Order: sequence, then structure tokens, then C-alpha cells
Amino acid sequence: MGWRGGKLPSAPRPGVTTICRTVNAEVSQFAHLLDALACGAALIERSGRIVHVNPRAAAMLGRDARCLLGQPIQSLYPDAEARDFIAAALADMDAPREGEFYLPTSDGGRVPVVISGRSWRDSTGARAYYALTMTDITPLKEAEADLKNQYRIIAELSNTILGQAENLKDYNDALEHRVHERTQELHEANMDAIYMLAVASESKDQDTGDHVRRLQHYSQSLARELGFAAREAEQIGYSAILHDVGKIHVPDHILKKPGPLTDDERLAIQEHTTAGEHILSTKPFFHRARKIARSHHENHDGSGYPDRAAGQEIPIEARIVHLADVYDALTTPRVYKRAWDTYDAASIIEESTGKMFDPDVIKAFASLQQRNAWRPNPAILDNSRSLV
Ligand SMILES: [Fe+2]
Ligand SMILES: [Fe+2]
Repeated sequence: MGWRGGKLPSAPRPGVTTICRTVNAEVSQFAHLLDALACGAALIERSGRIVHVNPRAAAMLGRDARCLLGQPIQSLYPDAEARDFIAAALADMDAPREGEFYLPTSDGGRVPVVISGRSWRDSTGARAYYALTMTDITPLKEAEADLKNQYRIIAELSNTILGQAENLKDYNDALEHRVHERTQELHEANMDAIYMLAVASESKDQDTGDHVRRLQHYSQSLARELGFAAREAEQIGYSAILHDVGKIHVPDHILKKPGPLTDDERLAIQEHTTAGEHILSTKPFFHRARKIARSHHENHDGSGYPDRAAGQEIPIEARIVHLADVYDALTTPRVYKRAWDTYDAASIIEESTGKMFDPDVIKAFASLQQRNAWRPNPAILDNSRSLV
């Protein structure tokens, strides 16, 4: 509107002679303009007295416009805060104002509005008025309240979902932990059973739990050195433990015979390989152990037993355990022999490349020895003693 910050364009009209009549005419003309606005509008004096209210403003207030004329605008507002606000605005009429306010309705309600106020002086400059426009923002406020409510619901929902997700994660973690614990317990129970069985079979041959523990370590190390994944190498290690389980079927008087063996006795001892394979379960957990039990006395050149298999025909697990078993037998004292020096044992083994042992396994053995990574940790042996 062109009256912002100054006077309305106004010129004396022909036939109007007195100042008073001119001012009244100007007010009347301005009031007509306010009536034509598509929003509520009012004109008030500096004192707050209402000079004009347009039909839209009267409708918003729920009152007859004529009844409002002459009333101080402050008197419409029941609360002191609103009256103070109006008083401050009237005291500083020259400053344009805009903002949210409300209109009090005749039934005690409130119509939220955006109100804009500008001062207007008549052409004499003597009388100042305050021109107000008011836009009903009820739909906007309702939408805002709806939106706030939706935000609150979404926030509550998000909190609930987050809480549930956290609970679910905690539950999942606890479950995973329990499954891991149970799996570990089961694995340890299985391993204990395996060790006990191994120790029972080895003890017939004057061995103790130390032998199978060392064999487990050597076989696992060789498998890793040959490129097996950690999990596979671990399986080969614990499968090696049961390599001689078939000795349970060999009579003690043959196993512990100090003198030379007859052909039948030698055959009975050799049968510990096939007996071991039959003793072991066909479950996947024992798959490698069965292969090791059967073939750990096969030689690379085909001179071993029970199948006289050669080279790649011999399962790799058995080729690994074969070397580890012989090395440990050489370096362990027996009633009928002293323990070989580790250097001598390694030399003997390396000399038999292509005869007893697979050249690749020997290469891995030599590499571990060079890196000083062959000997087992003494703690491994301590564990085995609790089972003997
Ligand atoms: Fe054996
Ligand atoms: Fe053995």
C-alpha cells in the first residue's frame, strides 16, 4: 500500500471548504479503501479509540462494526499482557509493526492473526491514526499444531524404535555370546574326549599326552606353512591327535614286545591304521582324522602301509602327520633308545626327501625350523598333563 511511512496521497476536492470536513472526507475515503481489503482492517486514533472497522475485521471479532466505533481497542482485550502490548504500540505509532497477535471474539475466543500497523496522518497533519490490517491465520496455526503433534508422534515413535532396536541388539549380543559360549564348551568337551581317547591309545605304546599335543602343534604349523587357512590348519592339528587310536585294538604283548617282531605281529601293528579309520566316526568333524588314521604310515615312494599309496595319492593331512609323527618319535626318548638330537632328527628327515616324506612338506618343515617357529610353546604341554 502506498501509504507506508507517510501520508496517504490526498488532495482537496472541489466544494470542500472547511478543514474539518476535509479530514472527515479523508477518513471516510480511507475507510472505504479499508473496506475493500481482502483482510480485516481497522483505523484507530492515538488514544486507542476505534474510528473504523471493516466488515472482515468485524466478522473475525464476531461483533457488529457499528458497536465497536468509539470504543478503546484495549477494552476488547481481557488480558493485561495484550493491553500493555497495544499501549506500547500506540505510544510509538510512527514505528511500523508487524507480528502475530490475536483478536478477542465476543464469545471469549481468540482468533490468531498476523497484524500489521502503520501510522496515518490526515492532510492537516494534526490528527494521527493507526491503520491496522489483520489476516486470520487460524488454518495456519491448526496446521502448525498438527505438524507439531506429528513431529511429537514421530519423535516418540523414533524413540520407541530406537529403544526396541537397542533392546534387540542387546538381546542379539547376549544370544550370540551364549551361542559362542555353548559352542566353545562343546568344542572343548569334544577336544577333551579326543585327547582322552588319544592318550588311552598312545599309553598302550608307552606314550603320554605330550606326544599328541606336540603332534597337534607340529601338524597345525606345517599345514599353515603349506598355505592352509588358519581354520583348516587347526582342524588338521586336532585331527592328528587321533592318528594312532587304532592301537587300542593291538594286543599289549605285541605293542610292548621288546624283541624283533614276527611277520604276523608286524601285520597286527600295521592294522592299527585301518582299525583307527573304522573306530572314528563318519561325521564330517572326523573326516580328516579318518584319512590321517588310515594313511599316516604311507611313504612318498609307495613303500608304506596299509595301501602302499604314493605321492599325491596320500591325503595331504596324512603326509603332514607322517613327518610330524616320525620327527617326534625320533626326538623322544624310549626305554629302548635315547632321544635324537633335534639337529640330527631334522637332517635324517630332510635326507629322506622323496622317500618317506613329501618334498613340499619337508620344505615347510625346513622353513619353520629356519624361522625358529617349529618348537611348541611349553604351555601346550602343560595343558596335556591334566588329561593324563
Ligand atoms: Fe601310527
Ligand atoms: Fe604317534
